[in-house]
Amino acid sequence: MKHDVELTVNGTSVTATVEARQLLVHFLREDLGLTGTHVGCDSSNCGACTVLVDGEAVKSCTILTVAAADASILTIEGLGGGGDSLTPVQQGFRECHGLQCGYCTPGMVMAATGLLLDDPDPAPDEIRTGLQGNLCRCTGYQMIVESVRWAAENGGPGAVATAEREGASS
Ligand code: FES
Ligand code: FES
Repeated sequence: MKHDVELTVNGTSVTATVEARQLLVHFLREDLGLTGTHVGCDSSNCGACTVLVDGEAVKSCTILTVAAADASILTIEGLGGGGDSLTPVQQGFRECHGLQCGYCTPGMVMAATGLLLDDPDPAPDEIRTGLQGNLCRCTGYQMIVESVRWAAENGGPGAVATAEREGASS
């Protein structure tokens, strides 16, 4: 059975007709071509698919597209406002070598952005707790923690992400 949905993705209004069973991650990747949101597991464990839904970090393989109707979705492609500028979180991953293969990175960056929206100055152990739903096979996590600390000290979650959160609560 199909349903018509309207939602906002990276600041753009989107209308679509989707299968009732379609997961949001597949809508983003396959219907909209936003392949920066990765699929790393089939069990809701890895966090590679994390996006912001109304300013909250959500694993997009855990919700149906129809459940996201009327929501505002921010993916890695929209994080810096869709341009070349990096947010502090993205810059932190670059400065502190928070990635190696990069497969987990979009989900890590989105989860870290959600974390900084909730707590702009998390301690390292709070970062580890906040990102525990995101798995990385490469880094040992220490550089990721340092990347998020770098972001906390250099601007926080980023203007676009903050606007998402404020838009959702207004
Ligand atoms: S693909 Fe969503 S948690 Fe792994
Ligand atoms: S950088 Fe390779 S999985 Fe995290």
